[in-house]
Amino acid sequence: MAEQKPSAIYLKDYTVPNFLIDKTELTFDLDETQTIVTSRLHVRRNPDSLEQTSPLVLDGGEDVKLIGVAIDDYALPQEEFAIKDDKLVITATPNEFVLTCETMIEPQNNTKLEGLYRSSSMFCTQCEAEGFRHITYYLDRPDVMSIFTTTIIADESRYPVMLSNGNEIERGKTDEGKTFVTWHDPFKKPAYLFALVAGNLEVLNDTFTTMSGRDVKLQIFTEKHNIDKVDFAMDSLKRSMKWDEEVYGREYDLDIFMIVAVDDFNMGAMENKGLNIFNSSCLLASPETTTDDAYLRVEAVVAHEYFHNWSGNRVTCRDWFQLSLKEGFTVFRDQCFSADTHSDVVKRVEDVSFLKTTQFAEDAGPMAHPIRPASFIEISNFYTLTIYEKGAEVVRMIHTLLGEEGFRKGSDLYFERHDGQAVTCDDFVQAMEDANGVDLSQFKRWYSQAGTPRLTVSDHYDEQAQTYSLTIRQETPPTPNQPTKLALHIPVKVGLVSNANEALSFSFAGQTQDEVVLHVNDVEQTFVFEHVASKPVPSLLRGFSAPVKLDYDYSTEQLLQLMSGDPDGFNRWSASQQLAVNELNALIKQYQNGQTLTEQTHLVEGFKALLADKTLDPAMVALILGLPSQAYMSELAEKIDPQAIKAAREHLRVVAGKALQAEFKHVYESNTVSEAYQASAEQIAKRSLKNAALMYWVASGSDEAKAAVVHQYRDADNMTDQYAALSCIVHFELSEADELLNAFFEQWQHEALVVNKWLMLSAAREQENGLEQIKALMQHPNFDIKNPNKLRAVIGGLGQNVDTFHNLDGSGYAFLADQIILLNKRNPQIASRLCTPLTRWQRMVPALAEKMKGELERIAQEDLSKDVYEVVSKSLA
Ligand code: TRP
Ligand code: ZN
Repeated sequence: MAEQKPSAIYLKDYTVPNFLIDKTELTFDLDETQTIVTSRLHVRRNPDSLEQTSPLVLDGGEDVKLIGVAIDDYALPQEEFAIKDDKLVITATPNEFVLTCETMIEPQNNTKLEGLYRSSSMFCTQCEAEGFRHITYYLDRPDVMSIFTTTIIADESRYPVMLSNGNEIERGKTDEGKTFVTWHDPFKKPAYLFALVAGNLEVLNDTFTTMSGRDVKLQIFTEKHNIDKVDFAMDSLKRSMKWDEEVYGREYDLDIFMIVAVDDFNMGAMENKGLNIFNSSCLLASPETTTDDAYLRVEAVVAHEYFHNWSGNRVTCRDWFQLSLKEGFTVFRDQCFSADTHSDVVKRVEDVSFLKTTQFAEDAGPMAHPIRPASFIEISNFYTLTIYEKGAEVVRMIHTLLGEEGFRKGSDLYFERHDGQAVTCDDFVQAMEDANGVDLSQFKRWYSQAGTPRLTVSDHYDEQAQTYSLTIRQETPPTPNQPTKLALHIPVKVGLVSNANEALSFSFAGQTQDEVVLHVNDVEQTFVFEHVASKPVPSLLRGFSAPVKLDYDYSTEQLLQLMSGDPDGFNRWSASQQLAVNELNALIKQYQNGQTLTEQTHLVEGFKALLADKTLDPAMVALILGLPSQAYMSELAEKIDPQAIKAAREHLRVVAGKALQAEFKHVYESNTVSEAYQASAEQIAKRSLKNAALMYWVASGSDEAKAAVVHQYRDADNMTDQYAALSCIVHFELSEADELLNAFFEQWQHEALVVNKWLMLSAAREQENGLEQIKALMQHPNFDIKNPNKLRAVIGGLGQNVDTFHNLDGSGYAFLADQIILLNKRNPQIASRLCTPLTRWQRMVPALAEKMKGELERIAQEDLSKDVYEVVSKSLA
């Protein structure tokens, strides 16, 4: 462990900056070995600061070498400044001055992918959250907003494209014959939104005319070999721009909007002002190389980053504790965009199942935190499912409470009030309250309280009085540093379904209706519905109106009823999941008791009705056919027994496949798409149903199915079908598995993103010598540990490989720990994320828990980066 343990910073300690930087002028002299950065910062004391004599303290990094510093062109001698803990400290300054700093950095040696670094042949940047300090000394905090002018100097033959934020204002030659380009961004922004790109890039040009009639130039840049894969991203961008005008009244502000794809990127993408930088996996798409899922991801990420121009850039965060202010809101916005573009129920099911699987697990573990954390050691660790996904759910609840129009009034006021400011989550809620004249003070506990609330629901029907009452109890479990919890304001959307599978109307609060949002705001409450004609089945938490766990003791009959009769599509899916969970849990118990697994019939019965119903949306059917994932069943388990969960899922799939073999064959054959590939809702739905049916059909053991899946692999003209077939072949270890996995690599070895799919599938393949396989993959010439996408592919595959990862001898965990130790200093953000499975150790069955804990303790012996230190120490606390 490091000599000095990294320490936490606290929201309660926030103070305004002592200095402000009105203008920032940067010059980058880019070079393969040494890059020189010169900054001219127009600094003045902040009149709002309580400390009017404090020294100027600028953030820097161990990788930034100071060459010289001057105040108003007076070069400071050694004794007039100091460098302490990577910070540049100048004790005596005028109240207003120009600070000039010359620094040297080595982007080619930057493996952390924060600040300025190289990816393939280009230079690029990633400054959120605290990357800018690895470029030059600065007040690297989001409440310091400045007007940036950036000059890039480089050799034009290698870097013909040189980009930064805003508009290009000048271009020419330097005395040494290099080219310079100057960019000016007229909007003030924090340093985390700064971006620079230089490289030999191709461009796709387009334009968008805004609602006020301004033409905006749109450009997407990639390396030459990828420029044929950006049409879909461009189309998604234009649709996003239109949607933000229509739904939020938000128009784009600059005259140019650029996106650049880079191969080496720690996250998905980054919303730098006017110059978004994307992980190529979130931008490139072509039918032959990209699955439907990946198409939808490209569309969602393009929208997300674009939407940040308002929710994040025009109105930004005061400090990083407020991260969910921009991320939760922007995720909510991109979710709604995708829902409007495709099917809203399908989108909601996908988002909710992701949340319930991943965010609920985070909220139940050692890293649990509120959407506005009270403290952190390393902010990079807080780009979490909680901040993003739960944050979006909290915004969605506000939307549910205020309604579409009220929410729009609130967002209009928020943007109007805070345009150009760095603000807090409180400011967001305040605008929502003020625009609607409502009190959200209890609701705001969602911002400060961690953990997933559990609602326990019981009911009573009084036939005589024709009343139906629901009693709802809420309880939020303790989380680290929050032993006790307060009652939350939880919107619970409810409808009633009759025994004849029809919506039952009722009167509530004096009004006749068939759906109502209950305001659960106490520990226990009873709600009475009147004029209820018959004993109903309650359809609770429709559309997942709050991010909570719901306990109501549904009988199998009731679940089957909701599955076919609930007018709320989301809850039809929910009921089918609950039914599958119940059957899986029964099988898990049998497996653990050493019993033979029995035939489970109820889900099969539900599936049969589903497959026979020709009126249903194929996308919906495909969703319902999806068994609860290994990860979701793990989240639900008291103690996670990966082998038992795997066995139960496999068994249930085979049972269903065998029982409904003819039905699955029929569905498979009747859902082929004959038109040319399109990432349209309709085609995606058909392919997903077809491929879901194929999986069951092959599970039945049918020779005809096996022939069909191999045929589909060889015949496919799009990656969705090709990859679905290959996954199925590998999963069931058909005799063609080796041959076709090799063929797949041969065919796609020059397409990096497809190679990643091959890496993932190969790593996930359950084989006797699983770990050897994975080690071999990491030695493969197409693997590169410096590339986060490749690493995520292999380690992600390992995580899915139950036999290998959860091997009782602990070898899977030890291997993961080795990779974490290897990456700890090279790329701390990625290393820290790799720790996630180990943080769940207390949830595992004892034999596995002990092994995981042992590996965490081994990691803790190392000299750790702040990132890994925080996750490991909190996991062992
Ligand atoms: N703001 C980015 C997004 O949501 C997140 C991001 C991109 C990021 N790259 C990062 C966060 C690197 C931390 C580190 O859309
Ligand atoms: Zn974001």
